[in-house]
Amino acid sequence: MDRPRKITLPTGIIKDGLRLSYGVMRRLPRCSPDIALQYNQWSIPKGTPVGMGAYSLHTNTEVYLEPFKFIPERWLGDFDPRMDDSWVPFTRGSRKCLGYNLPNSSLAIAEINWALAVLFRPNGPDLTLYETDESDITPVVDFHLPLPKLDSRGCRIANVVIGLAQFHPTETRDKSTLTSTGLTD
Ligand code: HEM
Repeated sequence: MDRPRKITLPTGIIKDGLRLSYGVMRRLPRCSPDIALQYNQWSIPKGTPVGMGAYSLHTNTEVYLEPFKFIPERWLGDFDPRMDDSWVPFTRGSRKCLGYNLPNSSLAIAEINWALAVLFRPNGPDLTLYETDESDITPVVDFHLPLPKLDSRGCRIANVVIGLAQFHPTETRDKSTLTSTGLTD
């Protein structure tokens, strides 16, 4: 895999965030239709579905210390290259996410950088968690897309009104608009 030359803290935040918030949690099966696959001493007959799961790779204790903890700093400096090899939020191979190309040049990563820059800019919105705890974001159900506990109301944030008003100074945004977009309670 192409590796970024140097990982900065914002990139570490994105990488560890994507490590813990899966696009798809389960294995995505693929078949080799025409030829058998050889993996070490094993020969896998053609047509046999094989797949990998981001969840098992991203929480492998041999690769990630304290894998269930969000630790962006783990990506700084000379980190274990197996961490990059096991990092598959966009999967790998010919059917990997179209939004993800190279670690340093990808629409998905650019979008996340943009969103973080808007949210955490100087004089940015004052974000405060509202009736939200870790169980509201920890995936426990796999409906192809991973979901938290079924009675979770999601990650809710208060005070975002002020921030959006700053970001769109010419627009009038009242609380009811935000409520309907699900951005606030
Ligand atoms: C954080 C953001 C994103 C995540 C975590 C993500 C994750 C994924 C995953 C796991 C797959 C399945 C790959 C597979 O079957 O092996 C996928 C497929 C795909 N993604 Fe994304 N994605 C993201 C953003 C985007 C964006 C911004 C685009 C728009 C360009 C996009 C377009 C696609 C397309 C078109 C596929 C189907 C690719 C194919 O089957 O050949 N994704 N994505």
